[in-house]
Amino acid sequence: MSKVYVFTDYGGPETQQLIDRPIPEPGPGELAIEVRAAGVNPADWKMREGRLGRAWSLPAPMGREAAGVVIAVGGGTEGFAVGDEVLGLVAPGQGGLAEHTLLSASTTVAKPEEISFIDAATIPVAAATAYDATHQIELEPGQTLLLLGAGGGVGLMAAQIGRVHEFTVLGVADVAKRELVESTGAAFIGSGSGVADRVREVASSVDLIVDLVGGDALRAVADLVADPGRIISAADPDAAVELGGRGLARTTEAMGKITEVIQHGLVDPHADTQYDLNDAGQAIAAVETGHAGGKVVVVPEG
Ligand SMILES: NC(=O)c1ccc[n+]([C@@H]2O[C@H](COP(=O)([O-])OP(=O)(O)OC[C@H]3O[C@@H](n4cnc5c(N)ncnc54)[C@H](OP(=O)(O)O)[C@@H]3O)[C@@H](O)[C@H]2O)c1
Repeated sequence: MSKVYVFTDYGGPETQQLIDRPIPEPGPGELAIEVRAAGVNPADWKMREGRLGRAWSLPAPMGREAAGVVIAVGGGTEGFAVGDEVLGLVAPGQGGLAEHTLLSASTTVAKPEEISFIDAATIPVAAATAYDATHQIELEPGQTLLLLGAGGGVGLMAAQIGRVHEFTVLGVADVAKRELVESTGAAFIGSGSGVADRVREVASSVDLIVDLVGGDALRAVADLVADPGRIISAADPDAAVELGGRGLARTTEAMGKITEVIQHGLVDPHADTQYDLNDAGQAIAAVETGHAGGKVVVVPEG
């Protein structure tokens, strides 16, 4: 048997529990892995609440991304073999918060030796999203990127990618995250009332807003960019469109590209908070506060 963290009904955290099930067997295009680490994302609790639809059969395994060792391969997964160390997105109906899970081979890449399993588990969702968010509209070196939600899993990575590209990055976050945000090379801007004025104090113009918060927090800074088409939101595409911008478009190549960048030590995934699988509920709660610092990762026991 194998442990997996699930939600048993759409709703609050009380619907979550750790259950036993047989080790899943891979179908076509799938890889079975022994999970070494799994990333936690806002999508996990949003899915549980039914905000991302109600099409999942229950109990629904939680966690969208994982890193581990291949223990079995399905048909059509050429290029992968038992024993490979990999990272990827879980297959439909599967969850990363588990001792074993299935990955979709089409969204899985080899884990370079230089990257730990814990860091690798943050790549398929957060790091790849940060890659897409900083490449959908390409800035020139010296241009100004305003990052709303700079202290979270996607934000810290996006800030570092901005530094690598020599953008001027302004990172908006709670004052408690000042040092964390500044460690990426970004200029820190305190969130909350008066945020737009604080940006104007340090920047005469903003060339791109990447939004990782949405709602009124996005509306409060939207006027800072001269061209509203240069607002991209991963958190609230509807608000971005309402303001003249657009939602984030994800790409398939982002995972491989950002894996190489991390392999070369150019950016740090900031997998700063780790929980045992038995404490997966606490891990999800930490992200569900909406104020996580860096990435939250779940590691199965021994
Ligand atoms: N479309 C996609 O494919 C995709 C993929 C990944 C993520 N997302 C979405 O992108 C968003 C960010 O994801 P994530 O993983 O980075 O989440 P996260 O780790 O929870 O980080 C969110 C960050 O936003 C900050 N924040 C909250 N309110 C803020 C405000 N008013 N001003 C500035 N910062 C504020 C939070 O901390 P502080 O307030 O303490 O600074 C936190 O650090 C989520 O909505 C997620 O669902 C979309």
